[in-house]
Amino acid sequence: MDKPNSIDAVQAALAGQNYVAGRALSTVTFLALTLGRPLFLEGEAGVGKTEIAKAIAAMLGRRLIRLQCYEGLDAASAVYEWNFAAQMLAIRAADGGSAPDDLFSDRYLIRRPLLEAMQPQEGGAPVLLIDELDRTDEPFEAFLLEALSDFQVTIPELGTVTAPEPPIAILTSNRTREVHDALKRRCLYHWVDYPAFERELEILQARAPEASDALSRQVVAFVQKLRTEDLFKKPGVAETIDWAKCLLALDVIDLSPEVIADTIGAILKYQDDIAKLQGSDAKRLLDEVKAELAA
Ligand SMILES: Nc1ncnc2c1ncn2[C@@H]1O[C@H](COP(=O)(O)OP(=O)(O)O)[C@@H](O)[C@H]1O
Ligand SMILES: [Mg+2]
Repeated sequence: MDKPNSIDAVQAALAGQNYVAGRALSTVTFLALTLGRPLFLEGEAGVGKTEIAKAIAAMLGRRLIRLQCYEGLDAASAVYEWNFAAQMLAIRAADGGSAPDDLFSDRYLIRRPLLEAMQPQEGGAPVLLIDELDRTDEPFEAFLLEALSDFQVTIPELGTVTAPEPPIAILTSNRTREVHDALKRRCLYHWVDYPAFERELEILQARAPEASDALSRQVVAFVQKLRTEDLFKKPGVAETIDWAKCLLALDVIDLSPEVIADTIGAILKYQDDIAKLQGSDAKRLLDEVKAELAA
């Protein structure tokens, strides 16, 4: 499909992939696609950063190539490596004769995500998701900055590979540390916040349509209430959806303090947070939620 030609069209196309985007996120997505600029999405875990890259790829019918970042990620694992084992075998197979002359050809090249994203693809340039960038270190960031500016890679033995069309780059960060200014400046930036009640309800209805309206409202209102508490790790949208699915599996139709106690592991993942919610706290929050929903 062609790139959507308006903000509304972006919002509708994302909705077609069961991705609920507000006006601001739809706008920055539209601009990133139209101007061909990388999109930098920052926000807490589980707010839909990774998912939107998948939704964009699906709505455009493009391939999604994901570079999952981690501590110690280096250029070799991000761009390409030579398949040493296969090269060794080829040399051994030559059995004393002259070594094969294609040792540094395509045949022994292992393409990692950044190089893969520069190859021509059927259907157009792929979506390149550089996920959880905050997990890498500064040297890798500097390297990425360059890669994102010219989308070409030089392999000494083979020459320079240039993307026929720059990939649609989406970078995400959970902000466990600040990503460098220089990299951010190259991108369009958007902070993905926790959704407000109505939007989160819409997301839940899109992702767990089997849940009743009444239960969905309780679940969303309770999770929203939890986010206002002083927790070590607040539940994301992913947790809201997971929790609703757990409740459905248990045939729960109405939240109670007991049900919450039994299923709390779906929304809180730290023992300190769980302990905080035990006892009267869950009941107090639930009472507040039910009163608000009834109002
Ligand atoms: N706006 C949204 N529309 C639809 N689903 C969403 C949305 N935001 C989050 N989700 C759901 O939450 C899950 C987790 O989102 P994810 O993109 O993995 O979070 P993040 O990458 O921000 O940590 C997704 O699999 C998706 O089901
Ligand atoms: Mg993610």
